[in-house]
Amino acid sequence: RPTLAPDPTRVAPEGPVIFAVMDGVGVGRGDEGDAVTAALTPTLDWLRGLPSATTLAAHGTAVGMPSDKDMGNSEVGHNAIGAGRVFEQGAKLVAQSIASGALFRGEVWRWLIEGVHDSREPLHFIGLLSDGNVHSHIDHLLALLDRAAADAVPKVRVHILTDGRDVPGRSALRYIDTLEAALAKLREQGFDYQIASGGGRMHLTMDRYEADWAMVERGWDVHVRGRARKFASARAAVETLYAEHPELDDQHLPGFVIADQGGVGAPLGPIRDGASVVFFNFRGDRALEITRAFEDDSFTEFDRSPRPKVRYAGMMQYDGDLHLPKRFLTAPPAIDRSMGELLAGAGKRQLAIAETHKFGHVTYFWNGNRSAPFDPALERYIEVPSDAKPLEQRPWMKAAEVTDTLLQALREPGPGFDLVRLNYANGDMVGHTGELRSTILAVEAVDLCLARLVRATEQLGGVLIVTADHGNADQMFDGEGEARQVRTSHSLNPVPLAIYDPREPRLGPALSLPARPGLSNLAATTLSLLGFAAPDDYDPSLLA
Ligand code: 3PG
Ligand code: CO
Repeated sequence: RPTLAPDPTRVAPEGPVIFAVMDGVGVGRGDEGDAVTAALTPTLDWLRGLPSATTLAAHGTAVGMPSDKDMGNSEVGHNAIGAGRVFEQGAKLVAQSIASGALFRGEVWRWLIEGVHDSREPLHFIGLLSDGNVHSHIDHLLALLDRAAADAVPKVRVHILTDGRDVPGRSALRYIDTLEAALAKLREQGFDYQIASGGGRMHLTMDRYEADWAMVERGWDVHVRGRARKFASARAAVETLYAEHPELDDQHLPGFVIADQGGVGAPLGPIRDGASVVFFNFRGDRALEITRAFEDDSFTEFDRSPRPKVRYAGMMQYDGDLHLPKRFLTAPPAIDRSMGELLAGAGKRQLAIAETHKFGHVTYFWNGNRSAPFDPALERYIEVPSDAKPLEQRPWMKAAEVTDTLLQALREPGPGFDLVRLNYANGDMVGHTGELRSTILAVEAVDLCLARLVRATEQLGGVLIVTADHGNADQMFDGEGEARQVRTSHSLNPVPLAIYDPREPRLGPALSLPARPGLSNLAATTLSLLGFAAPDDYDPSLLA
């Protein structure tokens, strides 16, 4: 087990270091779409006045994305926070592996192809259809389709999840048209390649952290069983659903299947014995449950019968500890020696807490995409159950309950926690609804809780770090005037950082900032506050 050296110049506080991530609360431009600036936030305003307040890069290459045009997201943000270094992330690793051809030379791709050559069943692709680059990228899918044709796979079926969350709310048709054009070209060459089913990513298949298994069951019905309303094409399905549900964006569209004979015949792509299935998302949180549905022999979450015997692979391995999936096309970033692991090795006690929607963010993502604690005797992970209700109606979510539970745990007798890490989901989860009014309230709910954390920090003699993993609530619109559109996705904005240390005369430490301070500097900063020197390969601490 890796160890940590003490930093002789630092003394850990008597109480805990409390690390609060305000999910999706970035630093915007202060314009009309900036729900963070619009919100009443006395505590955040006070934190911003501390000498330790600054902003951090949280998108693009600062968090391991292919380019600075890529937004940040919770996976790469929490990975960078937890690991203290920037790793090339899924989006980039998959693109590289496709470009070099390594992905197709690998054993798994060959196994998938051989399977369908023998069975004459289709090769199925299931995944999120957009260029959001958070969970997937359409270009990856297009490359896999071309290669399947080059490998003489006669029949392919694509099951699409419409996005509207990492890309504009009603943008599905542009990706469908691009995909259809590629499929049409391959059909001209004699291949039977078609879209078979689809639906909104927040309605089916892409649940995470077991918040709502019914979503995954709906996905199973649609993709595997071919049971849903029938349409002649994906475009026809989306156009009809738009007209029938003016209030829905792509995230929430109901499931549909494409059927032959102009939409009235048999569904085009139920998944049967002998098929090969690729789940083409690279990000793990929302891929783990459907993966278990395909792979897990002792699965009890819903009745899968008849469960087809297929060759299944993920674009990536989604959880290295749980070996999910067993087979994958690209190796995930090898994130080792995260701060959680190092602190466990040093015998420090850690508490991680969040509500369901972000529970895996402060555990699995923070630990470099591993779900299990490094040392269960030293780590406590608490999930506060989220409501399955529309979040724009309850923007306060479970912020107060997370805070209650946390403060209660901190006041328990016995050895205290050295590091507490928590996530307030509000800014991000409500920001994704695109509802400005609700998002302002979401940020205010977080601010109320921060005030409680400030008081507790003072009472316990701890230190409080407040930051965010990426922007979202800080930019609720794209464009201006007539061209203004609701933005449901994350922003490219930096995020705030403030460190409150009641021991310091000015209530916070002085910082010494590198040229582009980012989320990956926070692990060394936290270790420093706990009295440790970070490993040499960590990005440096921000403390002067
Ligand atoms: C989601 O999965 O909800 C969005 O695609 C990204 O949001 P997150 O990165 O904040 O989880
Ligand atoms: Co988000």
